[in-house]
Amino acid sequence: MPEASIAPPPTSTRPSVPVPAQRSSGPEESPAFEIRDFSLWYGARQALDNITIKIPARRVTAIIGPSGCGKSTFLRALNRMHEVTPGTRIKGSLKLFGDDLYGSGLDPAIVRRRVGMVFQKSNPFPTMSIEENVLVGLRLNGIRDRAFLNQRLEESLRLSALWEEVKDHLRRPGVSLSGGQQQRLCIARALAVQPEVLLMDEPCSALDPLATSKIEELIQLLREKFTVVIVTHNMQQAARSSDKTAFFYLGRLIEFDDTGKLFTNPANPQTEAYVLGRFG
Ligand SMILES: Nc1ncnc2c1ncn2[C@@H]1O[C@H](COP(=O)(O)OP(=O)(O)OP(=O)(O)O)[C@@H](O)[C@H]1O
Ligand SMILES: [Mg+2]
Repeated sequence: MPEASIAPPPTSTRPSVPVPAQRSSGPEESPAFEIRDFSLWYGARQALDNITIKIPARRVTAIIGPSGCGKSTFLRALNRMHEVTPGTRIKGSLKLFGDDLYGSGLDPAIVRRRVGMVFQKSNPFPTMSIEENVLVGLRLNGIRDRAFLNQRLEESLRLSALWEEVKDHLRRPGVSLSGGQQQRLCIARALAVQPEVLLMDEPCSALDPLATSKIEELIQLLREKFTVVIVTHNMQQAARSSDKTAFFYLGRLIEFDDTGKLFTNPANPQTEAYVLGRFG
């Protein structure tokens, strides 16, 4: 891994991002992810270098860092999504609520049901209606009970704050919705199989401020029930929406702390330089 070369931070200036009241993690609660000495390579190229971190359950954890530092790679490793890229290799341990995620006993399909994902670019299935998009995961799991499907459809669309906008035209194509609605549809699709964790990779980067604030409100609601891990380039969004923040740089985890602390009083000069917008 190359050495970091960034400007030293100023001593007096502090980031001027709004920092909300965050939930502190109860010491009694076991983490959603317990990750130890985790590294990942694409062929010969190392993208993650010895990451050790405990991601708390039923909290929002933000992943920040400059482009190419490994945020998406890390997120994809949390549900074994990188395995669809040939030539990837991992080392280290990654546990989800105590279960070894890469253990031979766990089927990747089960892992992805337990750990749902929403991508930067919303990706409803183009030939499917709104309803079919939400229910596709359940149908693939063989569920046919109409009453059950209807109930899960409404629940998932309510949870993703889309129900009121679409309840009268559930048969319309998913792609007929606006960009922000499509992103909430993808969130509903991910929630319909009742995952334990929701991963979001820059879910608002293609959205306008209003759609972004809807997704941020939604994230606040989701953390009542789910563990959320969100990658964002938007410092305000990380500060507003998350309880914990992890700063990645050059494939390494540089700092991980309560969001308020990391933004106002970071321990590492590289973190401070980044949150102050001095590089990245
Ligand atoms: N499929 C792939 N094959 C080979 N190298 C890859 C692949 N995906 C990512 N990488 C490399 O791994 C490193 C980390 O990439 P990653 O996409 O995780 O960064 P990121 O922090 O999400 O960046 P961004 O903010 O631009 O989305 C980069 O050097 C990238 O070139
Ligand atoms: Mg990325």
